[in-house]
Amino acid sequence: MEIRKAKRDDRQAVLEFCKDTFPWGDYISDVWGIWESDGGLYVLEMEDAVVGVYHVALLQKEAWLEGMRVHPNHRKKGLGTAMMGHAESVVKEGTIRLVIESENHPSIKMVRNMGYDIESEWRLYVMEPGRETSKASIAETAANLADLADSHTYADSWKWLPLDGEELGKLVGNGRVVECSQNGSVLAAGIWNRSRDFPEAFQIGFINGTGDGIDEILKFAKNRAFETGCRRIQVFAPERFKLNSSLLEVKSLFYLMRKELRKTL
Ligand SMILES: CC(C)(COP(=O)(O)OP(=O)(O)OC[C@H]1O[C@@H](n2cnc3c(N)ncnc32)[C@H](O)[C@@H]1OP(=O)(O)O)[C@@H](O)C(=O)NCCC(=O)NCCS
Repeated sequence: MEIRKAKRDDRQAVLEFCKDTFPWGDYISDVWGIWESDGGLYVLEMEDAVVGVYHVALLQKEAWLEGMRVHPNHRKKGLGTAMMGHAESVVKEGTIRLVIESENHPSIKMVRNMGYDIESEWRLYVMEPGRETSKASIAETAANLADLADSHTYADSWKWLPLDGEELGKLVGNGRVVECSQNGSVLAAGIWNRSRDFPEAFQIGFINGTGDGIDEILKFAKNRAFETGCRRIQVFAPERFKLNSSLLEVKSLFYLMRKELRKTL
């Protein structure tokens, strides 16, 4: 068994065993090119056949692990665990995070065995793009947003990144924060993204505030997605916020999982 960097020639074999990963299919074909070119895409080869794949992104402050797949005929033989171990040897030290749908029991068991814990629970909601008027607008300052940014992380196109005062300031500077204010106080705030991995999706990777404020941000997102030709909108919020908006359809619960790698001498 060998785990090595993926090559262009591996694509077909991987896509073949990934095409029915989930009831809805898989997304590996959409991201293969980007993942291969950033150097973080690895495959597992056994007896001259490629039967496993994963991607690791080395981000500024931590690493993100995603897209782990084992050929259905080769599962439960320790290959997923071997790829997790390999990813840790690539990352070496610091924080590794990944996200798993809460019903994906094989994956949860595997990563728990590897020492990962649930850091937070996130709910996915969806809505359709559409013409709307909204009282929300792009935030111009991070002042008054700190209380609403009540989370250690936010989703940035299916990667959860650390959220602190410095990051919030940068996001505001990049026009990525939407707020709804009334009489000088901020009722709600959201962080949006549009991913290069999934350009058809408009995503809100964090949202918090009053019910009315949140609805204004959602209407802003619907309109922005409509005007920029997005086909779907995903909204992520910490499950403890339990969003209750008629604009949203409630979807799956996800576990953000985390492990701290200690530097080995
Ligand atoms: C998740 C996945 C990568 C695991 O790969 P794998 O090679 O089968 O995993 P391993 O053989 O290393 O198993 C590791 C542990 O997970 C558990 N596990 C694996 N498959 C399981 C299953 N179907 N049911 C219950 N537990 C399972 C086992 O308990 C095993 O621990 P053990 O050896 O102590 O029993 C594989 O099932 C897969 O490709 N699934 C579809 C894609 C997916 O869900 N990817 C993750 C998305 S975040």
